[in-house]
Amino acid sequence: MARFTVFGNPVQHSLSPFIHSLFAQQLHVKDLEYTRSLTSPAQFAAAVAEFFRCGGAGANVTVPFKTAAAQLVTHQTDRAARAGAVNTLIPLGHGQILGDNTDGYGLVADLKRQLELSSLIGIHAVILGAGGAARGVLGPLCEAGVERIILANRTLPKAQELVRANSDLPLAYASWQDLDGLSAHDYIVINATSASLHKASLPLSNALLSKSRLCYDMMYAKTPTQFIQQARTAGATACADGLGMLVEQAALAFALWHTGQLPETDEVLRTVRAKLL
Ligand code: ATR
Repeated sequence: MARFTVFGNPVQHSLSPFIHSLFAQQLHVKDLEYTRSLTSPAQFAAAVAEFFRCGGAGANVTVPFKTAAAQLVTHQTDRAARAGAVNTLIPLGHGQILGDNTDGYGLVADLKRQLELSSLIGIHAVILGAGGAARGVLGPLCEAGVERIILANRTLPKAQELVRANSDLPLAYASWQDLDGLSAHDYIVINATSASLHKASLPLSNALLSKSRLCYDMMYAKTPTQFIQQARTAGATACADGLGMLVEQAALAFALWHTGQLPETDEVLRTVRAKLL
């Protein structure tokens, strides 16, 4: 039996075990167990070490441990290093662990689905937020062809700092008010704040949201998130939550752990959405 788990807090709500069981069925991967591991900041490193000492074959890491995971791995991929966060752990043997980050890939894959595009070349993106969720997706978005990213954050110095730390990427920062001056260029708006968790609306103009080709919330919920409600009220026609990103990041983790083959995600996403409702 190959054992996998997701470390988080809270973690009871995690859909990862269900998603990975659907991938396993699809690709005929047998004898797989995927559990949820609730842990605390103080216990996280020991829990990971114990899991792999007992033969664990791979693990995901979710909120709030992604940054801590980046600090405990012995090796990490370039994309994880840029993100400063790890969501996928791959044991290399002899206590060595490779940390990867599949979140950015997941966002890119879902944006392509939503926009019905095979590449994001030329797209301009407004990213709301400058925390870990935003930092994790900057590199993958630019690698996928995004031409320019404008980062807006409630605490502007955090957006400025993120722009400085990624000076090789086509980034700029803006205040919420500056976004009103956005030109008519085709753009998408991605919410990477945690405001939807607190049911808080963002101080954005209706025009910014209604003219956006897509309003995307990296969060997801059973009912439309606060950001999606705000975007729809503002007149946005295309909106999506982050459930597709969740399924896509899981697909890449599955490929990394198993066959190297990416599972098909469209049907899995429909099944996961139906389970969430
Ligand atoms: P994560 O790792 O999920 O990105 P984080 O690092 O705590 O979490 O960052 C949360 C982000 O959501 C930040 O950009 C935060 O803005 P500040 O930097 O100003 O704190 C943003 N955020 C959270 N609640 C918000 C709200 N009610 N309005 C606007 N931005 C909010």
